[in-house]
Amino acid sequence: MSTTRFLTGITTTGTPHLGNFVGSIRPSVAASRTPGVQSFYFLADYHALIKCEDPLRIQRSTLEIAASWLAAGLDPERVTFYRQSDIPEIPELNWLLSCVAGKGLLNRAHAYKASQDKNLAAGRDADDGVTAGLFMYPVLMAADILMFKSHKVPVGRDQIQHIEMARDMAASYNHLYGEHFVLPEAAIDEHVATLPGLDGRKMSKSYDNTIPLFSSREQLRKLIQGIVTDSRAPGEPKEAEGSALFQIYQAFATAAETAALRQQFADGIAWGDAKQVLLERVDQVIAPMREQYEALVHNPARIEQTLLAGAERARALATPFMRELRSAVGLRSLVAGAAPQTQPKAAKAALPSFKQYREADGRFYFKLVAADGRVLLQSTGFAAPRDAGQAIAQLQQRGAPALAELAPHLAPVDGVADSDVAAALQALADAAAS
Ligand code: TRP
Repeated sequence: MSTTRFLTGITTTGTPHLGNFVGSIRPSVAASRTPGVQSFYFLADYHALIKCEDPLRIQRSTLEIAASWLAAGLDPERVTFYRQSDIPEIPELNWLLSCVAGKGLLNRAHAYKASQDKNLAAGRDADDGVTAGLFMYPVLMAADILMFKSHKVPVGRDQIQHIEMARDMAASYNHLYGEHFVLPEAAIDEHVATLPGLDGRKMSKSYDNTIPLFSSREQLRKLIQGIVTDSRAPGEPKEAEGSALFQIYQAFATAAETAALRQQFADGIAWGDAKQVLLERVDQVIAPMREQYEALVHNPARIEQTLLAGAERARALATPFMRELRSAVGLRSLVAGAAPQTQPKAAKAALPSFKQYREADGRFYFKLVAADGRVLLQSTGFAAPRDAGQAIAQLQQRGAPALAELAPHLAPVDGVADSDVAAALQALADAAAS
């Protein structure tokens, strides 16, 4: 069975709010638990620099976002969870991609065009205040995505164009230098609700209408008090459709609870009472996570450690892949000779393989052997062949991230770097996917 790799980034410029939870954190954490899925979630702090010039805010936001995802149940053992700026291969790939990205393609990016349009409308120079970073935003994002050979990228609709641009850059590079990149696709979840904010418009930092995910219950109560409603008096029937309060409730409640509130609206529930119902329902979901969140934000060292461990796993893939990509464009040792331009065939013939066998002790073992016969991974003995098979399946499905979990069943092999093992597992996954 082949795995599907999901990857998404979260820009570290703000404090997570209920809209982020409903639209991104909750569905992503749930998706990461799906069998056959390998997830990469990262904090896009290089991207944050394009929008935010306040160092403390970047740092604080990174902490808050990481703590929120972990409190919401993200399992850093299962998911490769890292900080973009801990992966030096990302800016390196950014440059290689810059050299194949058409400037005209970048000219057409919505975010860049919107800045220009705003300037022109205000009678300013089109590029007034526009940084090269903003212009290059889609290239850095393509580097994020292509580095980990992501198949699916869960994003909001506003980001679809960026995924298409990443495909475009991947295709250009592949065309010039051989098949190195997977062409990614945007994954838009139609069932995920867009949450309205306090004023009824989409909940968004830029509208200043958000409810922070981890405010205290008291703050939550105050903010919910401030949700706009119409002026209908208690006893008067109220419209559920178009009510921000009702929509937020719906995102947190079951279908039966939602139907019950709809009935109460028709029966003329007072707005004050409806707000109380909403507060209780939201708090029921948030309260258990809030405790965890508080514990996590007050222990930045632990989060730092989690992120660094994630970066190590991410780099076990990125470092060998970057070496391959550099070599492909000609950034390679002078003594290596002129390697052929594209080596997909050679790569196929040179696949590593798993070997299962039984030892004299009656136990069942496996090893991962490189095409040249070198042993890359050696298991300890399993009582049943099925157990050995399951461990192999884990490695085939989840790749390098499964190594940590399987560590108790693996014997050290002298002279083999983690990155070699990761690259071999990646090569197998790629061959299975193609
Ligand atoms: N641009 C994305 C956003 O604003 C964040 C992001 C950066 C991202 N790199 C990414 C999303 C790679 C998906 C994949 O939401």
